[in-house]
Amino acid sequence: MADDKKIHKHGGKSSSEILSASEVLKNVGLKSGDIFLDAGSGDGFISLEASEIVGENGEVYATDVHKPSMDILHQKIEEKDLKNVNPILADITSSIPVENNSIDLYLTANVFHGIVGNAELDSTMKEINRVLKDDGVLAIVEFIKEEGMPGPPMDVRLEPQDVVDNIEKYGYVKKEVKQTGPYHYVLLASKNK
Ligand SMILES: C[S@@+](CC[C@H](N)C(=O)[O-])C[C@H]1O[C@@H](n2cnc3c(N)ncnc32)[C@H](O)[C@@H]1O
Repeated sequence: MADDKKIHKHGGKSSSEILSASEVLKNVGLKSGDIFLDAGSGDGFISLEASEIVGENGEVYATDVHKPSMDILHQKIEEKDLKNVNPILADITSSIPVENNSIDLYLTANVFHGIVGNAELDSTMKEINRVLKDDGVLAIVEFIKEEGMPGPPMDVRLEPQDVVDNIEKYGYVKKEVKQTGPYHYVLLASKNK
């Protein structure tokens, strides 16, 4: 969808002040050697943390459409001399330049409500299906839908059940929902094979 037609535009926002990357990655079970994709990574604060966990046998792909965020990530990768983080300027609703069935863990943090709100679910789920291994994990981090908590407007926030309703028609099944920090939850799902 053309950017000026989108209801939700989040470029440049980062949750790094209110969401702990290490807690997220612990809750999603990221491990050494994993191939990890951070879809709508923003400045990549989760990807940078993931780099150490996946180690030299793993790989991190951080994708975002917002070039200034990718530029920040490029700079941090250079400063830290990281070899396993790959920033990719790409649209997760169309095509991500990674191989079919290559990703162990596809994580999208604070992005999914925008995909749903912009009616971009079909193309996004098709691409998730293409890149995720059959035994891979889909992890969706969202803001808790409660008044007085930070996050997007209440009418666009998603309850965990809303996430389930949106993904199950694409053949995904919920495994677990965990609260992650004071303001977020993560829903873990897998392909229904
Ligand atoms: C609210 S920010 C969250 C950033 C980061 N995941 C975090 O939690 O801090 C949403 C991010 O998704 C990106 N985004 C939105 N639509 C996208 C798309 N279709 N493809 C790739 N990135 C997208 C935005 O540019 C923005 O960086």
